[in-house]
Amino acid sequence: MPISEPLVAQMATALQEGGWCLATDFLPAPTIAALAADCRARDEAGELADATTGRSRLRTTTALRGDRTRWFDEAALSAAQTAYWSAMHTLRLTLNRRLLLGLETLEAHYALYPPGAGYARHRDRFRDHDARVLSSVLYLNHDWSSDAGGQLRLHLPESKQDITPTGGTLVLFLSAEIEHEVLPAHRERLSIAGWFRRRELD
Ligand code: OGA
Ligand code: MN
Repeated sequence: MPISEPLVAQMATALQEGGWCLATDFLPAPTIAALAADCRARDEAGELADATTGRSRLRTTTALRGDRTRWFDEAALSAAQTAYWSAMHTLRLTLNRRLLLGLETLEAHYALYPPGAGYARHRDRFRDHDARVLSSVLYLNHDWSSDAGGQLRLHLPESKQDITPTGGTLVLFLSAEIEHEVLPAHRERLSIAGWFRRRELD
């Protein structure tokens, strides 16, 4: 999956300057459609589970977040997941070259927010654990109008930035710094949340 050099250069500059960046059409529409179909099929098969917060994957806290998730298994990726994984791999290497972030691994899950579900304001880096460096979200809904809600709201030092979760849009932000939330949507909202991690010292 070729990611254009000028695009990555722009993303790297934005990350460096403001701690976040966005790319539309990060993957081709057929790949996004295949990922959405894969996510929905797994949900229908009962493979998505109520999401958890904090490091323990055992706690469920529906008051904080209302999505259902399924972690990607690197050893058993579907065809659609492989396209995602390899694009993120290329992105990781290119960002490392430009920003010296030392990103080493990726963890990712599908997230399905039923209508009305959101995710309260939070940061992604766990308090007791600092391996998550860069957060990413790739949106999978083919069409999304802003009156459907479901925006990702970034709380930046001096402003708020709302991002419409349109299929193919990828957003990246620094996991330790940027607080964010998911506003409730009137329709089902699909995405892949991914975190690039650096080497764990323990
Ligand atoms: C998360 C998250 C944002 C989104 O999963 O931690 O903040 O837009 N997701 O789905
Ligand atoms: Mn988050």
